[in-house]
Amino acid sequence: MNKLPSGLTTDLIPVVLAPMSGVTDAPFRRLARRYGASLTVTEMVASDRLAAGDEEAFERAACDAEGGVYAIQLAGCRPAWMAEAARIAEAQGASLIDINMGCPAKRVVGGYAGSALMRDLDIALSLIEAAISAVSVPVSVKMRRSVRLRARTNPQPVLHR
Ligand SMILES: Cc1cc2nc3c(=O)[nH]c(=O)nc-3n(C[C@H](O)[C@H](O)[C@H](O)COP(=O)(O)O)c2cc1C
Repeated sequence: MNKLPSGLTTDLIPVVLAPMSGVTDAPFRRLARRYGASLTVTEMVASDRLAAGDEEAFERAACDAEGGVYAIQLAGCRPAWMAEAARIAEAQGASLIDINMGCPAKRVVGGYAGSALMRDLDIALSLIEAAISAVSVPVSVKMRRSVRLRARTNPQPVLHR
């Protein structure tokens, strides 16, 4: 990453708490920071639900009471949702927006998000561009080394444009 999220400097301990669905909620992130994580990441947040104002999605994206440098991870496959969710995430206080392009879970891949995006680079690029143009904080992408490792859970997606 060329541009570091504000508040994160290279002299800080480079420990990043990976996004974990059902685990990295605000209290867990607070604990991780107390034990030395310099950047924490939320659970994956569905961009369409955040863009639609869903209460649970907002809770997942909520800024920690103590502050600190945190990233909000967004999942989805439509640029308009991604852009709107990224805007909301920045307004919530995120120092970094991370796009989930690695999740192999069936319910995510079945919605043409997560690692399904590694099979359609045009859509992947449009999501990245949508997020970048919507916010001023850095945007990162988390992906797997290969989608083939989980071939059974990664059907060829037909993305709806
Ligand atoms: C319970 C659990 C939930 C996870 N949820 C997410 C997620 O929401 N988004 C994501 O990008 N990765 C998710 N991951 C993957 C982790 O971020 C990480 O990439 C993976 O565990 C590999 O790291 P490790 O070798 O240190 O375990 C999850 C992993 C676990 C174990």
